[in-house]
Amino acid sequence: MLYGKRIRLRADERSDLPQFVEWLNDPQVRRYLGMPAPISQDYEQQWFENMLKRPVEEHTLCIEIQAGDGWRCIGNCGIFDINSRVRSAEVGLFIGDKSCWNMGYGTEVMRLLLRHAFETLNLNRIFLRVDAGNLGGIHAYLKAGFVQEATLRQAIFRDGKYCDDLVMSVLRSEWTPEE
Ligand SMILES: CC(C)(COP(=O)(O)OP(=O)(O)OC[C@H]1O[C@@H](n2cnc3c(N)ncnc32)[C@H](O)[C@@H]1OP(=O)(O)O)[C@@H](O)C(=O)NCCC(=O)NCCS
Repeated sequence: MLYGKRIRLRADERSDLPQFVEWLNDPQVRRYLGMPAPISQDYEQQWFENMLKRPVEEHTLCIEIQAGDGWRCIGNCGIFDINSRVRSAEVGLFIGDKSCWNMGYGTEVMRLLLRHAFETLNLNRIFLRVDAGNLGGIHAYLKAGFVQEATLRQAIFRDGKYCDDLVMSVLRSEWTPEE
């Protein structure tokens, strides 16, 4: 497990998939995820099997918060496409439980992924792509230490129009771990 102040990240299990499908079919959750169509349990199962074939450092992680004596899943995240020569990788997340939005969890997930990426995986550059309209996401990533480094103009088609896609990144040299 990777432990933060209020969250922990654990490996996804097959039993998480029905909940992920329900969340990813919610129009508000999927709005900025660039998913072109509703997904089925079979599709998600296939995604999961393919994900397991990736190196273990790239396996996706369930975001959990404390609930009573136990832990409750609220979303999913991961580190993808590790380039071992330049020590670079991409990160992504979604919080499917909308009652948990704007409570700082997204920021905390990113901080935890950065710590893992820099202090355990020995990576040097972490980046993400975010729809320019996803103001809550952008705000969370800025709080976690990301800086905007590029605008991919009209790289997204959403809600009937072209939208910009932002690239944000953190370098190991500019990252400060939280105490
Ligand atoms: C994007 C997402 C990860 C953010 O997670 P979160 O837990 O809500 O983020 P946080 O609470 O850490 O930070 C969000 C910040 O943005 C602010 N915010 C929210 N909506 C905003 C808006 N429309 N304009 C400006 N700021 C906004 C919040 O107030 C909060 O700032 P604060 O802590 O200073 O008050 C989450 O909403 C989510 O998973 N959405 C659906 C899927 C998705 O978009 N994934 C990301 C793809 S790149």
